[in-house]
Amino acid sequence: MNLENAKQEFLQYTDPYRKVGERCVLKINHTFRVEALCKQIAKSLSLSKKEIEVAELCGLLHDIGRFEQWKKYQTFEDSKSEDHAELGIQILNTKDYYKKYFTEESIYDIVMNSIRYHNKFKIKEGLTEKEKVFCNIVRDADKIDILYLYTTDDIKLDLKNEPFSDQVYENLIHKKEILKENLKTKGDILSVALGFAFDINYPESFRILKEKDYFNRVIDIYKERNQNEKMQKQLEEIRKTIENYIEEKVKC
Ligand SMILES: [Fe+2]
Repeated sequence: MNLENAKQEFLQYTDPYRKVGERCVLKINHTFRVEALCKQIAKSLSLSKKEIEVAELCGLLHDIGRFEQWKKYQTFEDSKSEDHAELGIQILNTKDYYKKYFTEESIYDIVMNSIRYHNKFKIKEGLTEKEKVFCNIVRDADKIDILYLYTTDDIKLDLKNEPFSDQVYENLIHKKEILKENLKTKGDILSVALGFAFDINYPESFRILKEKDYFNRVIDIYKERNQNEKMQKQLEEIRKTIENYIEEKVKC
């Protein structure tokens, strides 16, 4: 595997999609940021030089299904189209296209599982320890970059001035991740991103989140946008919960 060649192949593959829509360009940029985050997290775990490159490759390929998804359905919502992770795996397997990125069969399962489980609520039981590490690196990196996008205009939710439902609020206060199926109010849509705090795996990821201050920035933005009194109070309590949680985790 040659990472530079893999990046070139990715740029070549995605180039035609730039014209398909602005949202595809956003995903190309997201991919390269996730790749860099994977490198940073992998380094913090003292992985070998080769393993750090594999982590970067996983980051590079994790969203490869997004471009066809947009082209076919004009949406990034899996529930309204299809699972973009599975679509990505399908694309890479078609005529062994993955061999343009890597030829070592020894990393095939690592790469494919990191793609398959980057967008699932949990990773499957029964993966090897090594496979789990690469899945978790990509999951952390992806969540960190999604939080970054929440601080920009690229992800802008309209909460219609509704607060969190009591159930979703209780989950966040008890440090539980949020399932999309449990969303009830418009305000609840924001809870998925805030719940990311409780599904982060590595100390380095927590350090990045603390340094970039993403959770506080997102909470500030939505306190400004949603003046509902109940929501204002809920967000302050959630802010405290997340701050304390990250503080504990960076020390690990
Ligand atoms: Fe994704």
